[in-house]
Amino acid sequence: MKLHIKYYNVVESTNLTATDAAKCGAKEGTVIIAKRQSDGRGRMCRVWTSPLGGLWFSTILRPVVDPAYAAQLTMLAGVAVCIAVRRLYHTEKAVIKWPNDLLFSGKKICGILSELQLNENGSIDYAVIGIGLNVDLNVKDFPPELRNTAVSLNFIAGEKHACEEVLNAVLDDFFRLYKIWLKSGFDAIMPIWKSLNCTLGNRVKVSDNDEIIFQGIALDIDGQGALIVCDDNGMKKVFDFGEISIR
Ligand code: BTN
Repeated sequence: MKLHIKYYNVVESTNLTATDAAKCGAKEGTVIIAKRQSDGRGRMCRVWTSPLGGLWFSTILRPVVDPAYAAQLTMLAGVAVCIAVRRLYHTEKAVIKWPNDLLFSGKKICGILSELQLNENGSIDYAVIGIGLNVDLNVKDFPPELRNTAVSLNFIAGEKHACEEVLNAVLDDFFRLYKIWLKSGFDAIMPIWKSLNCTLGNRVKVSDNDEIIFQGIALDIDGQGALIVCDDNGMKKVFDFGEISIR
């Protein structure tokens, strides 16, 4: 697939720029990348701090699949970033926390925000997959409340790489996995996600809007990527990652 990479110095949010471009007919494989975002967006309507030194980009996809499967793209992106970081930084310390946060030594290095637009007939018009990777940030670049939980790759991984290099590595893996997914579905990606994750088998707290709603052992993910949790009384619940997160 031919990629169309568009570089910006600063945008509000690469997801927003990508969405605007997609609405105007931008092709699958269009990548919007900015050095800084003035209004970076996180999941659950949170702010995503995006100063110089981070890798902030969004990719436009137009998969011809049932929209029910689109959420899998977010998990696919998590797998791609994890594999790329491990290869480039020569480390296995990068892991995926369900559904798709990337952690390094327990701290967050990457977040992913996907947005989906359907056509009037219910088919997928486009998906925008936004990836934010803390590549070369200083501790002071993070807001005080995140300094204990977020970290930058060049600071923690023992090697330094330019954002451009990290971008190329991630795009290689992302589009390689995307082609596999289009051909064979999520069954081909799920085992890789499982081999990279740090959630299954562990005790988790499930929260909705910062309120803890369930606690137990994370048993497995289902075919859609939803998390199956079993509490101390043996009650199982399935959580869809569109709505909740774990602590
Ligand atoms: C999260 O909350 O973990 C998701 C964060 C996603 C941030 C990325 S940075 C590039 C793209 N543009 C945005 O505004 N958000 C995503």
